[in-house]
Amino acid sequence: MTAPLKHSAAITVEVALGERAYDIVIGRGVLASFGARVASLRPGVRTAIITDRTVARNWLEQTEASLAEAGIPTSRIIVEEGEVSKTYAGLEKVSEALIAAKIERNDLVIALGGGVVGDLAGFAAAILRRGVDFVQVPTSLLAQVDSSVGGKTGINSPQGKNLLGAFHQPVLVVADTSVLDTLSPRQFRAGYAEVAKYGVLGDDAFFTWLEANHADIFSGGAAREHAIATSCRAKAAIVSRDERETGERALLNLGHTFGHALEAATGFSDRLFHGEGVAVGMVLAAEFSAQLGMISGADAARVERHLASVGLPTHLQDIAGFAQEGLADADALMALMAQDKKVKRGKLTFILLQAIGRAVVANDVEPALVRGFLQQKLAG
Ligand code: GLY
Repeated sequence: MTAPLKHSAAITVEVALGERAYDIVIGRGVLASFGARVASLRPGVRTAIITDRTVARNWLEQTEASLAEAGIPTSRIIVEEGEVSKTYAGLEKVSEALIAAKIERNDLVIALGGGVVGDLAGFAAAILRRGVDFVQVPTSLLAQVDSSVGGKTGINSPQGKNLLGAFHQPVLVVADTSVLDTLSPRQFRAGYAEVAKYGVLGDDAFFTWLEANHADIFSGGAAREHAIATSCRAKAAIVSRDERETGERALLNLGHTFGHALEAATGFSDRLFHGEGVAVGMVLAAEFSAQLGMISGADAARVERHLASVGLPTHLQDIAGFAQEGLADADALMALMAQDKKVKRGKLTFILLQAIGRAVVANDVEPALVRGFLQQKLAG
């Protein structure tokens, strides 16, 4: 695509899941019409908004005003920011608040926030009165292109990330791209790793377009809406074919087997945001694919170059505190990968590349090959 893109009023992407189908509405300023969209979807509905403190400060009043204008009663539940809320305690707090707010079967839970809020609110909705519908209003780039779409909801166990949860599809996703203007550059970059992921795993033309247009995405030009819509279309297509991740949906985990181990090794802390772990993991997956002779070294280098060009970490050595115990140790990383949900009977599942734009699920990767590869990478 060479001509500059123009902002469009709103782009609608359908997630085609039969009676559970829903729209993702994407555009600058679409939060203003949020109440009208909810009212036309569910006339007479009552709602509870679940959000965190920072998002509440920036976007809660505007969201409530839009709902009030459409005559929709609402209550608010504000949780602590971050993974500390994606816990049994966070779920208890939200669930009890929903019951106290008298949210009933025909009402709607609204998740206003990033991935943590969406996962938590979606799971609370899934179990409240055995299932209440919910709407996602994602406010981070990562949530707009990934976590708000597809119905994965849940909380963490002290023993691992996202180990408790349910598939519970939202009934609507409204992604206002202007809310991303308040994200820190680091948060935006971390979300961008998931955008690039869609190109690397299934769309080489999109990857080439991202190489040429990433600056406009970061500065809030029309390329941002195009990139988010393209990412959502890719995810919607995969989810509509494999909602429960029995096959193809696993491709969305490109970079995540390495990435989750790195997140765990850094204590799920600010040392490494999820999207940053995915960036490093995606480069490792590309380099591992090259080592197995599946892609050329030049293709692996191209993936690395693009992610590095937007300022993402791409090497293990880029991670803060790299030399600390756990991160610079191939056996420790292997042990963390062995705990991942993607392990089946001792064999590791990796998403590998046959080309940029063509990923495959490899279900039986020999741990010894991975260990050897990591040892090389750790040696620099
Ligand atoms: N984030 C991966 C998925 O939704 O399947």
